Amino acid sequence: MTAHEATPAIDENLVLLEMVGRVAVIRLNRPRQMNALNDALMDALGLALLACEQDDGVGAIVITGNDKAFAAGADIAAMRGWDYMDVFKSNYITRNWETLRNVRKPVIAAVAGYALGGGCELAMACDILIAADNAVFGLPELKLAVIPGAGGTQRLPRAISKAKAMDMCMTARNMDADEAERSGLVSRVVAAGRLMDEAMAVAQTIAGFSLPSMMAVKEAINRACESSLSEGMLFERRQLHALFATEDLKEGMNAFLERRAAVFRHR
Ligand code: CAA
Repeated sequence: MTAHEATPAIDENLVLLEMVGRVAVIRLNRPRQMNALNDALMDALGLALLACEQDDGVGAIVITGNDKAFAAGADIAAMRGWDYMDVFKSNYITRNWETLRNVRKPVIAAVAGYALGGGCELAMACDILIAADNAVFGLPELKLAVIPGAGGTQRLPRAISKAKAMDMCMTARNMDADEAERSGLVSRVVAAGRLMDEAMAVAQTIAGFSLPSMMAVKEAINRACESSLSEGMLFERRQLHALFATEDLKEGMNAFLERRAAVFRHR
């Protein structure tokens, strides 16, 4: 398929969506291709994310792969035949990968095995990155004479420093889970067998808090990465002021003072 042939139908099996309480688990599901990210999979992921975004019952989203691969990158077999006009006209990557960027609910990447190229970029586009101790991160695109094109050259230096980002991209080397944690790329590393338990526990904690407050903190932290300190502080202050209009803020403070658990209604 060329890049400008829009995917005719969404293959729902390419991503598996499961609800566990207020947590939506989205599993990338092309195991035989190491979850290589083709257009059909990214369309399906985008649709699943939009469904979660619209569902009032979803308070947090976990994106994961399998034991061997979170995702081994953009699909090289699909890209091989494309020319400039194919990717330019189809708005390759922008068209469907960027759906994740517009999601306002919290998204956790639970990464085991390979997270290479676009797989690493997908994980970095999530809000929290939890790694199994067998996780392998890398941006090996230069081996293919291409460059990271789904945010890798922008998010990696923000996450782990310019020198380390240059090292990773220019040498195409991989980083193991320990180095990724030391570098600040991931927030926690756990034994491979505990990855989903840990990710679900984090997601359930997040989903238990007030959703509008959660969305505000996500927006404010993301703003910190894109603005000056004074602009960011003003944005944060206005978000804080706005939350005084919510029922949940009153409930949270009343519950504390009445020594009981808060019951948030996400409004
Ligand atoms: N695209 C398409 N197919 C892929 C793939 C990818 N990115 N990664 C793996 N596969 C396929 C392999 O072709 C192979 O298919 P067949 O069985 O049909 O031959 C199957 O998955 C299993 O892979 P391997 O046999 O290679 O498994 P391995 O255990 O020996 O190695 C690996 C695993 C280290 C992940 C290796 O597959 C690999 O290096 N993959 C490519 C990684 C890469 O270069 N990613 C960057 C892609 S470019 C990109 O992502 C651009 C961007 O910024 C958006």
